Amino acid sequence: MDNIYLISDKPKVNLGLKQQINSDYEQIKYEELGLEKYILEKYNLDVSGKYGNLVTKNPFGKASGQLSSNISQIKTDAVDGLGFAVLKTVISQDENSESSMEAWKVKAPKMVVEEIVSERGERGYTVTWKGRGWDKSFEDYLELVAKSFDIYKETQMPVIPSVQYHLPNSEEDFRESEYRFTTKTLERVWNESSVDLPFIVEQDFSATLSGLKNTKEEILRWLREVPRLIDKYIDTDNKIIGVKLFNPSFDDDFQVEMVKTLNNNASDIVDTITCFNRLFDFNKEFEDKKGIAYGGYDLSDRNLRVLTKFIDEYGKKTFIPISATGNINSGKMMVEYALRGATSGQIHTFFQVPSESFRLHEGSRTKKALHELMFNPANGLVVTMLSLRNILGIKEEQVFRFLDIPELHRKVQLDKLK
Ligand SMILES: Cc1cc2nc3c(=O)[nH]c(=O)nc-3n(C[C@H](O)[C@H](O)[C@H](O)COP(=O)(O)O)c2cc1C
Repeated sequence: MDNIYLISDKPKVNLGLKQQINSDYEQIKYEELGLEKYILEKYNLDVSGKYGNLVTKNPFGKASGQLSSNISQIKTDAVDGLGFAVLKTVISQDENSESSMEAWKVKAPKMVVEEIVSERGERGYTVTWKGRGWDKSFEDYLELVAKSFDIYKETQMPVIPSVQYHLPNSEEDFRESEYRFTTKTLERVWNESSVDLPFIVEQDFSATLSGLKNTKEEILRWLREVPRLIDKYIDTDNKIIGVKLFNPSFDDDFQVEMVKTLNNNASDIVDTITCFNRLFDFNKEFEDKKGIAYGGYDLSDRNLRVLTKFIDEYGKKTFIPISATGNINSGKMMVEYALRGATSGQIHTFFQVPSESFRLHEGSRTKKALHELMFNPANGLVVTMLSLRNILGIKEEQVFRFLDIPELHRKVQLDKLK
């Protein structure tokens, strides 16, 4: 496969800027001013991102998963500066606590962080784990949501509940009672919290759905119906509906068709699409489980390939905003996704890589990772944006916005940036 990545490994920035970045990498100087304001003042870069229409102070969010399953993780993320956090995915249920997707409530504390070499031979990391959704009670989840809203009130870091609703096969109907009860209950918690955020739900199409081997027609039916069923049970107009798509074991063209299906059938309902959950290896075994989700460079290769194809075919029209996920291990990777339309990125694995990957030795993993994502002199967001600004011929006096990047594909041929 041709290398899909557009940004060179050698950033094009002048010596003075290089020295500034090196010095910002070696020592934190943004504590007083705040990270984003510091970057704006010092480099004339605005690093705000967006989840749907919601502005976030930077594009880096915590992806739904084991690292957003308890309130102390959310608090650390908020205090240490993430743009937003998506809470662990809860499995929908009806008023009698019945879930047709009960099998997704798996208790599996053990996670192993492993090196993984992609098909192209690139080394990255993957987290091996055999769990699936939230494994405690729905009431416990509601408590996490309510407490996360309190953290938002203190810190302004948006928090996003995530749900996996019932997904029927072709002979079944949707269990609407689960859509109704779960959505209405989450909205009640949101109402009671009087939080100054829209009511947000991200529907997760779990990576492990691939293991069910659904047909293409079944998957497209989910995409046509699920957003409407969620929307049907939301009362407020102040809402954001996100859909996180999985990577089924079909080819790239089908994956593009999935994104188009949402755009063609649900653009009045879906406010943002998270692209795309992890790949699935049917043969890999972990403990007693066969069939394991994985990431690394195969994941970002695939996701970027599919998004490139999507914007090539669809990009002249307006499309539902994209939030990226998949091997975002640098600011440079974030920009690769932004060049394909993404306005933010959701990260899981990079928060778990060995500590030697981080320049900072103190503080939480969130803090160390964010520092790396912003200031790494070779591939951080600051150096990558400065290099891009240079290539595009934008003057240094002009503020260059991260949110300009998702629009670039409409104005320049992306290949020219190589
Ligand atoms: C251990 C683990 C648990 C996860 N659980 C969820 C989940 O509950 N809901 C979800 O939407 N995604 C889940 N994911 C997927 C992540 O949110 C993320 O989209 C994916 O791992 C790709 O990002 P990464 O390459 O940075 O890990 C999980 C990932 C891992 C590694």
